[in-house]
This record gives sequence, structure tokens and C-alpha cells, in this order.
Amino acid sequence: MSDDAADPRPGDAADPRPGDAAGAAAEPLFDRLGGARLRAVVEDFYDRVFVDPMIGFLFAGKDRARLVEKECELAARMLGAPIAYTGRTMREAHARVPILGGHFDRRTQLLRNVLADHGVDPEVVAAWIDHTVAMRAQLTADRGSECDHEAAAARTHVGGDSTAPVALRRRT
Ligand code: HEM
Repeated sequence: MSDDAADPRPGDAADPRPGDAAGAAAEPLFDRLGGARLRAVVEDFYDRVFVDPMIGFLFAGKDRARLVEKECELAARMLGAPIAYTGRTMREAHARVPILGGHFDRRTQLLRNVLADHGVDPEVVAAWIDHTVAMRAQLTADRGSECDHEAAAARTHVGGDSTAPVALRRRT
């Protein structure tokens, strides 16, 4: 457990919970979704994440069942459910995962897609995505994937005459 206030374990008192930000009297956003639908969303999300051509490789060999369990706790707690998050802090959990800005954005997009496909309430979607984006700095120091066309062109430009014949080596 981290006692660093700058790195609260998601779900700690120091961690904002948009789901119950409106106060105790308001219905928690969690109640609009319910535990069974939340689990279905998270299961579907990790099904997509694990086979995704852009970020799936980062999850190779990881414990999918544990990820689903901890993500369910985290999301339920964030949406105002009286549930504790028992996983590692975001920094601890991702310390050995080399997450680039584009990986973070891709995961967020997969989350948006799955929330849309399950017809999740727009306020729940907004809270979930806001919460995800707010944790970005705990997961990667890489900047966003906004296009820098000149830098990208400099990295990817193939020089020379691309129409020149390529000499083939004869196999012996
Ligand atoms: C705010 C966004 C994110 C949240 C809320 C989140 C949530 C979680 C949770 C709850 C765990 C399990 C913690 C535990 O085992 O105790 C976990 C582990 C993991 N996450 Fe994330 N994650 C996020 C972003 C990302 C991104 C962008 C990637 C890569 C594209 C990623 C890759 C992983 C991997 C590979 C693990 C397993 C680490 C291991 O067990 O060695 N996560 N994440």
C-alpha cells in the first residue's frame, strides 16, 4: 500500500471518486450500471485488450482473471459503490509495463468502444473516461499521440529510388 499522497491507491480517500462526488444523498452512478453489467463490460474490455494488435502484446502472459477482478473493484469504487480496491497502486502495477502515449490512448479508445457497445449511461461513461484520463501521469511519462507530421516523416521517410530494381540473392 502506498502512503504517498501524490500517488494514492485508486479508491483511497485521497483519490477522487467522481461516482459519488455529488454527495451521499445522490444515487451513486454505480447503481445505474449494477455489478453484473459492470463485470460484463470489463470482461469484454479485456477480451478486446488481450488480442488488440496495438497493445495486446503488453498483456501476453498476464493474469487475465486477476486483471478483470481488480478492474471491476476499481471501476465500482470509482462509480461510488461501497467496495474496496484491493489491487496494487497504478504505479506499482505498471512499473514494468513500457507504456507509451499511444498505448495509453489506445486502451482508452477500447474502453470507449466497449462502453458504447454495451449502451452504458452517458454520465457513467463520462465519469469512467475522466477517471482514466486523470490517471495518465501515473502510467506513462510519454506525451500524447497527437500527430507531429514533420517528426513522423523524419522517422519514417525511406530514402533512395524506390523504383530501382532490387538485386536478388540466389539461394544455393
Ligand atoms: C487509467 C488506465 C489504467 C487502469 C485503470 C489500469 C488498471 C489496471 C489494474 C487494476 C491492474 C491490476 C493491478 C494488480 O494486479 O494489482 C493493471 C495491470 C496491468 N495493466 Fe493496467 N491500467 C491502466 C492502463 C494501462 C495501460 C495503458 C496499459 C498498457 C497498454 C496497461 C497494462 C497493464 C498490464 C500489462 C498489467 C499487468 C501487470 C502485471 O501483472 O505485471 N494498463 N492495470
